[in-house]
Amino acid sequence: MFGFAFFVLMAHTTNGDVSYSIPEEMKRGSVIGNVAKDLGLDVNRLSFRKPRIDTEGNRKRFCEIKLNSGELTVAERIDREALCGKKASCLLNQELVLENPLELHRLILSIDDINDNSPQFKQSIIKFEISESADKGSRYLLDEAQDPDIGVNSVQSYMLQNNDHFLLSVITGENRGKYGELVLNKELDREQQKEVTLILTAVDGGTPPRSGTVAIHVTVLDANDNAPVFSQAVYKVSLPENSPVDTVVVTVSATDADEGQNGEVTYEFGHVSESLLEIFFLDAITGEIRQTGPIDYEEESSFELSIQAKDGQGLAGRSILLIDVVDVNDNNPIIIIKSLNSPVPENASPGTEVGIINVQDRDSENNGQVRCSIQQNVRFKLVPSIKNYYSLVTTGELDRELVSDYNITITATDEGSPPLSSTKNVYFTVADVNDNPPVFEEQNYRAHVQENNKPGSSICSVSAADLDWRQNGTVVYSLLPPDVNSAPVSSFLSINADTGVIHAMRSFDYEQLKSFKVLVLARDNGSPPLSSNVTVSVFITDENDNTPQILYPSPDGNSFMTEMVPKSAQTGSLVSKVIAVDADSGQNAWLTYHIIKASDPGLFSIGVHSGEIRTQRDLSESDSMKQNLIVSVRDNGQPSLSATCALYLLISDNLAEVPELKDMSHDESSSKLTFYLIIALVSVSTFFLTFIIIILAVRFCRRKKPRLYFDGAVAIPSAYLPPNYAEVDGAGTLRSAYNYDAYLTTGSRTSDFKFVRSYNEGTMTADMTLRKTQSSVDDLEGLDADINDSLQVRSIMPFCAMFG
Ligand SMILES: *[C@@H]1O[C@H](CO)[C@@H](O)[C@H](O)[C@H]1NC(C)=O
Ligand SMILES: *[C@@H]1O[C@H](CO)[C@@H](O)[C@H](O)[C@H]1NC(C)=O
Ligand SMILES: *[C@@H]1O[C@H](CO)[C@@H](O)[C@H](O)[C@H]1NC(C)=O
Repeated sequence: MFGFAFFVLMAHTTNGDVSYSIPEEMKRGSVIGNVAKDLGLDVNRLSFRKPRIDTEGNRKRFCEIKLNSGELTVAERIDREALCGKKASCLLNQELVLENPLELHRLILSIDDINDNSPQFKQSIIKFEISESADKGSRYLLDEAQDPDIGVNSVQSYMLQNNDHFLLSVITGENRGKYGELVLNKELDREQQKEVTLILTAVDGGTPPRSGTVAIHVTVLDANDNAPVFSQAVYKVSLPENSPVDTVVVTVSATDADEGQNGEVTYEFGHVSESLLEIFFLDAITGEIRQTGPIDYEEESSFELSIQAKDGQGLAGRSILLIDVVDVNDNNPIIIIKSLNSPVPENASPGTEVGIINVQDRDSENNGQVRCSIQQNVRFKLVPSIKNYYSLVTTGELDRELVSDYNITITATDEGSPPLSSTKNVYFTVADVNDNPPVFEEQNYRAHVQENNKPGSSICSVSAADLDWRQNGTVVYSLLPPDVNSAPVSSFLSINADTGVIHAMRSFDYEQLKSFKVLVLARDNGSPPLSSNVTVSVFITDENDNTPQILYPSPDGNSFMTEMVPKSAQTGSLVSKVIAVDADSGQNAWLTYHIIKASDPGLFSIGVHSGEIRTQRDLSESDSMKQNLIVSVRDNGQPSLSATCALYLLISDNLAEVPELKDMSHDESSSKLTFYLIIALVSVSTFFLTFIIIILAVRFCRRKKPRLYFDGAVAIPSAYLPPNYAEVDGAGTLRSAYNYDAYLTTGSRTSDFKFVRSYNEGTMTADMTLRKTQSSVDDLEGLDADINDSLQVRSIMPFCAMFG
């Protein structure tokens, strides 16, 4: 195509030749020049001259002449490239033939190039295959672009599309045109870019320039330049411990950017210890890592495995597998007794440390957090000490006598879910401390002993229990002073230290000693020992061992002891009285009187109990003046004892009437004996009186001294009652230990006590009978209190066994 109608007309006229220079590709009809003018022809005559354009060698007429103006115009398309190719100048020779006259003019048309062709490449695509391993600077020749135009209108330069890898180097050949080379400026990476497509543009120098493009298609060829690459540089997985065998831990994967064999990946472990190889298996093809052995968090809480992936050529990529083992609560807490102070003394104060417990749980975190507890209702508690240590301490007093050993169950529970727990028994004993004194079974003991017992016979036994252990609980008995009636207690009683059996050391005489008390001490063998004591009241019971003692009439049958009976005595008159006493008491002293022989049996009778002899009928003259009675006094004991006496009664109003009184009272043979007896009696009496006076003197100094012995014959009471009876306060003649109960219950203990005291103090008399009574009361005073006490507190009081 024509860019624009532009030409330079140049006409040279030499020897009838005319030259014109015109651009190619002018439109048909375009005026090249005025030939007529240039040749100096007359335009008006031109038609007459019949001008025509002939071609020489050329068959085509490219121009024609206009007859009316003589102008030369383009008749045919003039393509320089077609006519002249690459020739630098392109001349078209045309001949102008004129007739009338015949003339021949040469018309030379010089055809100028115009840029009407674009550069053009041979192919539409230039293909290269370049290995990615090609070095930088490698050159790849590019086809030259063709432009039919010449000169500046031909290819002047090349341009390459901007890209990362290639530069264009343009070379101007010696006898060729310009051509380009691709220069590798940056290595190719097939894995990044498999192919590169570039546009190469060739530009000519025309105005305006024209260009032509070609695509350069670079295929990047693979080289094994890529190692396999794992999808993660580090694989982190969590794996619960105790997972079953064949659990898939993780599947690793590596990719190799290379192709074919170069990109075939196999997996294997890197440098890994033998033991780990037993636990983990890596599938070479799939990259699956499975667990093949047991995993115990407590052994190993994490694993680090090096893994690698290799391609066919042996290039390897590495990664690390970090396996975090997750703890599972699979360990029971363990309770360890670190120390145990067994036995624990029972007097250990509350808070005493008995033992140290340690708990362990191999699990971690909450699974290893252990709480320790103790079964309730035990006198111990756990005090947390330093981490995971507990002190087992007492919370209260211990008492071996109540609980002698403890079997404490300690439970430890962790905080896992589900929690695991375990228990442990802590067994220890409580050591004895001598903290219990012996305790007597009774608050006091009473022993009843029949008088005249055999010395050495056992009378009673006491028993005390001590709850303590072994020697701390072994009881030893002994008797305690004070002395009994100023004689050492050992002369009265002895006690078996082991059994507590009390023996009498002597034969007791009720008439001398009716009761006494001793203290029995029970002591244990502890160190220091503990002891307690108990009162043993010994009551001596009466035995009928005293025959009635006849005080009147004198038993020796003294003739002077003759009763006068007035003749006028009437029936029932009291004529005499037999007075007898019995040192025994109670039934044993209950006397009955009987006349066992009488000279006139019907005349006199005797009061069975009073001993009063009365006439049974009126006396008559016929009655014998002398009457003899044999009276027997019998006590009520079993067997009963008796005494007899003779009573001489003289029925007379006047002693003088009785001449044979002497005969009656005495026979000759005994009078002499009587005389001696009287002398003896007088001397004894004198001695006795002296003795009494001495005693009284002594007594005055030691007034409180109790009187022990009862001498029933000392005084004849003003009343007819035997002196003993005063003691029982007229309550009767029964006299035995149980009588006192009745007597003593009449008042309160205190009033009795006071009564006895004031009576004692207020009576300052030398009357021995009375004194004896007082001392008896004194003796019984403590006992009264005891008995009274027992009667009020205890309904039943077991009595000691009585022996002998
Ligand atoms: C403590 O008690 C447990 C069960 O309660 C028992 O198995 C264990 O034998 C006891 N220990 C002792 C020393 O008695
Ligand atoms: C008796 O008690 C004492 C402490 O009072 C103690 O030391 C001793 O071990 C006890 N004896 C026995 C046999 O338990
Ligand atoms: C007997 O026991 C009482 C208390 O029970 C005590 O006061 C007294 O001292 C003891 N007597 C002796 C001699 O140990």
